[in-house]
Amino acid sequence: MVSIAPSMLGADFGKMREAAELVAPHSSYLHMDVMDGHFVPNLTMGVDLVKALKGIAPLDVHLMVTDPLNFIDDFHDAGAEIISVHVEANNPRDALEKINEKNIKSGIAFNPSTPKDKIIPFLDIADMILVMSVEPGYCGQSFHENAIERVKFFKTKYPEKIVEVDGGVSTVNSAILTKNGADILVAGSAIFKSDDPIKTINIMKQS
Ligand code: DX5
Ligand code: ZN
Repeated sequence: MVSIAPSMLGADFGKMREAAELVAPHSSYLHMDVMDGHFVPNLTMGVDLVKALKGIAPLDVHLMVTDPLNFIDDFHDAGAEIISVHVEANNPRDALEKINEKNIKSGIAFNPSTPKDKIIPFLDIADMILVMSVEPGYCGQSFHENAIERVKFFKTKYPEKIVEVDGGVSTVNSAILTKNGADILVAGSAIFKSDDPIKTINIMKQS
């Protein structure tokens, strides 16, 4: 069964803990989007917010920052069980090595506009491939269809890697992503803007 990681960026920030506690029993991870206002135009969560949700569910931290190496220690200490860094950021290899030293899972993320071959040199040291299906920065964008063939390509060539898909994921595309080999589906607005977040998670899980 595919794992679901609700993206907490889609939740009401005034009720973050309640939102996390609502979805956690039905989810494999809580996905935490960290943005620095430089790698992407937006600013989102810092270490303290991640730490505040520690223990509710395993934390999957997605670093959309220019210099991820500077933040690995802090997010590891905050309770991250997966940390992903972008291939478009500075020093992705050093950051991945540092994540691996912590004995947690490391992910290499890449944008829809980045050629998929760019991540191949990092697959010797990454546990997870994070296929972005929106350009990073915001919740609620439309799904880029090229993610489907990217998931298929990487799951076929690198079956031992965890494949995660992030951006515009919903009950509309969860089945095709799962069929093509996705292991973890991240969804923000599809879950938190739905009338019944748990039902939405369960439909995606069963796809
Ligand atoms: C985009 C983030 C995503 C986003 C997902 O930069 O990495 O995790 O919050 O939100 P939806 O599912 O609404 O696209
Ligand atoms: Zn994300």
